[in-house]
Amino acid sequence: MAMSFALTHNDIKLRLVRMKDVKALEHALLANRAWLRPWEATNPYAPNAFDVRGMVRSLLRSADEQSGMPFVIEYQGKVVGQLNVANILHGSVSSCVLGYWVTAEVAGKGVTPTSVALVSDYLFKVLGLHRIEIDIRPENEPSLRVVQKLGFRYEGLKQRYIHINGAWRDHYVFALTHEEVPNGILNRWLRGEVPALIYPKLAE
Ligand SMILES: CC(C)(COP(=O)(O)OP(=O)(O)OC[C@H]1O[C@@H](n2cnc3c(N)ncnc32)[C@H](O)[C@@H]1OP(=O)(O)O)[C@@H](O)C(=O)NCCC(=O)NCCS
Repeated sequence: MAMSFALTHNDIKLRLVRMKDVKALEHALLANRAWLRPWEATNPYAPNAFDVRGMVRSLLRSADEQSGMPFVIEYQGKVVGQLNVANILHGSVSSCVLGYWVTAEVAGKGVTPTSVALVSDYLFKVLGLHRIEIDIRPENEPSLRVVQKLGFRYEGLKQRYIHINGAWRDHYVFALTHEEVPNGILNRWLRGEVPALIYPKLAE
């Protein structure tokens, strides 16, 4: 894939991560420790060193193996977060999982829902995947808003699913399949055509 590959909408640009991003990512991650820590995956079986270079290397390996697509999120030309497409499976499953974060500085501007919509449309229309999943801790109300805005469907609860911030945490599962969004996710959101679905916690 060409290095110039990018998905854009207004001030938001998604492109594949490269080793050159390590410094900018280190800066953003260090400046946002308290903001990100409650939602960060941890490894219960190994020391959790702050190793952005190692993280980017492992993401690039997943891209080489075609099991992942690691994007950085740029806002007005500055790296402000990441959107990782992981666990890509083709064939009779044709599915993947999305994970994301942005800096506190740009929170609330719609950067993440726009990024999720751009990447999801690409995954459905260009990569030919059939299902996209997003797993979110019940406590993470900002992230629950992201899937609600875009109309990802609530599927259920995975108990003690991912080790986050030092413990096994429950996660709500949200998903969309390609046939649910024939005209695209970004388009549906911008036109105000996202169906009103029932969301846990946010329903009341
Ligand atoms: C979850 C997250 C990615 C949302 O990104 P975003 O680009 O701010 O998304 P939005 O602009 O759509 O805002 C989503 C909600 O965040 C909340 N929010 C807005 N500004 C905020 C701020 N400054 N601080 C905290 N929360 C804020 C609001 O509830 C907003 O919903 P609303 O638009 O209905 O008011 C971001 O908060 C984040 O990176 N958090 C830390 C990491 C994380 O939780 N990752 C996801 C793990 S599943």
